[in-house]
Order: sequence, then C-alpha cells, then structure tokens
Amino acid sequence: MSDTAKITVKGETYELPLITGTENETAIDISALRAKTGLITLDTGFKNTGSTKSAITFLNGEKGILRYRGYPIEQLAQKADFLEVAYLLIHGELPSAEQMDNFSGSITKHTLIHEDMKRFYEAFPPNAHPMGTLSSMLSSLSTFYPESQNPDRTEKDVELTIHRLIAKITTLAALSFKSGKGHPYIYPDNSLNYVENFLYMMFAVPSEDYELDPVVTDALNKLLILHADHEQNCSTSTVRIVGSSKANLYSSIAAGVSALWGPLHGGANQAVIEMLERMIREGGDMQKWIDKAKDKNDPFRLMGFGHRVYKNFDPRATIIKKSCDDVLEKLGVDDPALDMAKELEAIALKDDYFVERGLYPNVDFYSGIIYRAIGIPTEMFTVLFAIGRLPGWIAQWKEMVANKEPIGRPRQVYVGAQARDYVDFDKR
Ligand code: CMC
Repeated sequence: MSDTAKITVKGETYELPLITGTENETAIDISALRAKTGLITLDTGFKNTGSTKSAITFLNGEKGILRYRGYPIEQLAQKADFLEVAYLLIHGELPSAEQMDNFSGSITKHTLIHEDMKRFYEAFPPNAHPMGTLSSMLSSLSTFYPESQNPDRTEKDVELTIHRLIAKITTLAALSFKSGKGHPYIYPDNSLNYVENFLYMMFAVPSEDYELDPVVTDALNKLLILHADHEQNCSTSTVRIVGSSKANLYSSIAAGVSALWGPLHGGANQAVIEMLERMIREGGDMQKWIDKAKDKNDPFRLMGFGHRVYKNFDPRATIIKKSCDDVLEKLGVDDPALDMAKELEAIALKDDYFVERGLYPNVDFYSGIIYRAIGIPTEMFTVLFAIGRLPGWIAQWKEMVANKEPIGRPRQVYVGAQARDYVDFDKR
C-alpha cells in the first residue's frame, strides 16, 4: 500500500502522508494540509479526527477490544488491583512489588485533605450535585498547593500532584456524600486499601463497626478498572486540551470532571436509573418507551444504550454484567428497576432499530445497578466514574506534556453574517 494519500482540489493534486499505528490503524496526516492547499477539514463531533498519537489505550469498536498499555481489559479486571492499573496507565508498565508498595504507600499517605477545605462543604447547599462539588474541590486543590501552578514544575512536583489527586479524590467524594446527609465526616483509615477506604469513608458511622463485604469491594475494584481509561473521549480530550494551555493539573482534571458530568457521557449511569424509575412510575409499558426512543421527533433516547465507538458490544458491559449478578445475589437485592432493566435489554436486543444501528447496552447500563445495590445514591454514580477515570486522565495529560503537544486550537468554517456597518439605535 502506498504510504501517501492524494487529494485533488480544483484540478491540483497534493500528497499527504499516511501514519500507521502499532495495531495497523491508518490515518491521513493532514497537519500540512492548510499550508499546502489553504483548506481545513470539517468534522463536527470529531468523529473521524485523530487528535494525537497515543500509546496508552487501544480500542477497536467493531471487534469490542479494549486494552490498557497492551493488556486486555478482561485480564486486568479479573486479576489486577485498581491502583496497579493506575500505575500501569500512568507509567506504561505493570509495577514490580516494590514499585507498587511505594506507589500505594505514597497515595495512602496523602488521603487527608487540608482541614480548611471542609468549610467549603458547609457552604454548599445540602442538595448540591456531587459532580459540581467534586469539580470545584479538585480545582481548589490548586490553591492549597500553589506550586502545582508553575508550568515549569519538576518531575517530582508532578509526581506529588498525581499522588495527591488519586489519594484525595475519594476523600472529597465521601465528604460530599456525608455533608449532603448532614452526617459527621469519617476520616480515612490508612490500614485499608484504596477501594475499602473509600467504602469506609462513605458508609462507616462513628461508634458503629463497619464490615466490608468482599463481593462489594471486588465489584467496585472491577468497575474502577473498567472505567480507568477510554482513549480520546469527551472528558479525556478536555483534560488534554485544557492542559495544553499549561493550566495546572488540578484544574485540567476538574475540567475533565465537568465534561464527564453530561448525560451523554459519564452522566449516563445516573440517567439510566432515572429513566428506569420514570418507566416504573409511568406504568412500566416497555414498548411505549422503545417506540419513543425510535421516534425521530421525540428527543427521548434509551440511556445506557449505544456508544460512539462500540458498534457491536461494549467489552466492559460483558464483564460488569457478571459482577452485577454476583452483587445482587450476594446482597439479596430485589429491585424493580433491575427487573425493568432486564426486560428493556431483552426487547431492545431483538428490535431491528437497535440491531441495525449497533445499539447495545454499554457499561453504564449495568454500573448504575451495582452502585444502587451497594447504597451509592444516584447523583453520586458519575463521581464513581470520575474516580475510576482519574488515572486515565492523568496518563493522557502526562503523555500530552511529554509529546510537547501544541496548545489545542481547532479551526472553523464561518457561516455567519458578512461584514456590515454598525447601525445606530434610532435606525434599527
Ligand atoms: N436510543 C435511541 N436511539 C439511539 C440511541 C439511544 N440510546 N443512541 C443512538 N441512537 C440512534 C440515533 O438516533 C441515530 O439514529 P439515525 O441513524 O436514525 O439518525 C443512530 O442511533 C446513531 O446515533 P448517533 O447519535 O449518531 O451516535 P453517536 O456515536 O453520535 O452517539 C451516544 C453515541 C453514546 C452519544 C448515543 O448512543 C447516546 O446518546 N446514548 C445514550 C447515552 C449513553 O448511554 N451514553 C453513555 C455512553 S458509555 C459511557 C462513556 O463511555 O462515556
């Protein structure tokens, strides 16, 4: 195959190089297109646009493949610990036992937040959405650690910021839960591992024993691993683009949290449960909802169905569906929303509309059901997604810095009014 692509514009032909990745994905390198032809490309939603060359995550949407640094997601979800996967994403290789001890030891050491930060939670209204508070609190970490704002930070400074972020995100998430309920804060217990410590800060009550359930910690560990990276999606691209202006890492991550919040992205797990609850409230006629989802004049979509890149199945959904069954069985949960979810899944999977468009349940269809079963309130579901995605955002940010990528700045095709003269008020 030729290693160039030819483009003919108004009778003149230009050659553009082809770039091939390690999994034989091929791209046309258009970086010189404008200089050569004066043209730009237009691709709303970036459906066909590669924004970077990345060595972190490989996914093939048609075949349902997802790998972090070459390791299949199925193996990582089955065998690894979330912090081990975080190390892998951020550093590129699985850690040795000593590297793992140092990494998790340092993260454990940084779980406390500055006491003054607790006052922020007192000021938020009790029903503040935890994604709003999380984004604000992550950004405010940059004010407590001003050295992070120095664009010429040393590698050691960056490492410390990374450890602080991973350590404190769970403390901040649990604080927002406790403060929303008006309950006393539970400080981290550093004898617990990462996932256990988060559950402890969320659910322990002073003066009562808190027992961790291994089925729950295992399911949560898996969920965090499954969410840890997903190449250049909306929130990750946001983190990279904010970071490309040399904004500090805390603020770049806070921007990623905001991007994740939307119901078409991470907010889908919350939207799934809200949709199921609405279906139950309104009588449970599944066909009515399927018809609404298919109706082009109705904005309703089946939340938890479809994916920008997975067009046959979402490999994360396959793994988590099994955990979902385990958790529900172990906890003996009898949840009408779950019955509704199963019914909906069965109908949609047989419906031509969904089959023809490759719309299958995605990871968020099942994750919400697990979160609900273990007592996480619906509006915190996306916070759990953010905790999982954090190592991926960090790894992508680090790669963007290491690649010395230029500030992100797309172009546009202007379709507004042509030049015209200002009109005084009395003449309008
Ligand atoms: N329900 C009904 N129809 C749908 C749905 C849905 N959930 N998703 C896509 N379609 C239809 C859409 O109307 C379009 O039909 P047509 O070709 O007739 O115009 C076709 O399928 C293709 O949809 P699209 O909007 O062009 O696809 P996209 O790649 O731009 O959107 C998506 C992907 C995830 C935004 C979309 O499938 C969706 O809105 N799903 C529901 C929200 C959701 O579950 N999001 C979580 C994604 S997983 C978490 C993550 O990784 O962020």
